[in-house]
Amino acid sequence: MRLDRFLSESTELTRGLAKRALSRGEVTVNGEPEKKGARHVGDDDRVSWNGMPLALVGRRHIMLHKPAGVECTARRGLYPRAVDLVEVPKVERLQPVGRLDVETTGLLLLTDDGQWSHRVTSPKRACAKVYRASLARPLAGEEAERAVAAFAEGILLEGEEAATRPAELTLIDAHQARLTITEGRYHQVRRMFAAIGNHVEALHRESVGALRLDPALAPGEWRELTEPEVALF
Ligand code: URA
Repeated sequence: MRLDRFLSESTELTRGLAKRALSRGEVTVNGEPEKKGARHVGDDDRVSWNGMPLALVGRRHIMLHKPAGVECTARRGLYPRAVDLVEVPKVERLQPVGRLDVETTGLLLLTDDGQWSHRVTSPKRACAKVYRASLARPLAGEEAERAVAAFAEGILLEGEEAATRPAELTLIDAHQARLTITEGRYHQVRRMFAAIGNHVEALHRESVGALRLDPALAPGEWRELTEPEVALF
């Protein structure tokens, strides 16, 4: 990697400021001053800026227990952003892996690893996402059976041309349901329940693929994924 890029990736310096730091002689490679941004640095080179040893920020894979009232957008808007709850260097590089609605709680993944994010969200991989929904109207008996069958069959959501992929609905009780879907259409879970005449009052994502929300995380808390967890996708 070029030295100027290494500087901008490992510090808060922009590429332009990194060049200036280089020309002012603030940067050393293996203890020797270096002014050339085009110089190649490899894994064994020790780079310092103003005497401070630098290391590249690796790829980050983060699990956040998303609280309600937080947005999954890159831009600042009406609500606080999910990335603002996470304190890591270069936080602006993190992107949510898929989206949850502002009011949805639960497992949200954040990463700056584009390929990994793609593996999680790619429709081809049909990664299962499990949601717990609190329903406004009771769902039980034959009506529940019809809902289970309709979701398993796939339903046509308003304004769409293709039916939803088969989804698994299980009733926890008359007001609590668990739904597993393998797509990520806009407001999909809420719209699926709306399509059967119900209304989702609260929605919580429990898992994505084989990755479950860590029960040790309170709403708003986060942690880095372990290597085996990253390797699940
Ligand atoms: N489906 C929804 O309706 N909302 C979410 O946040 C996620 C899935």
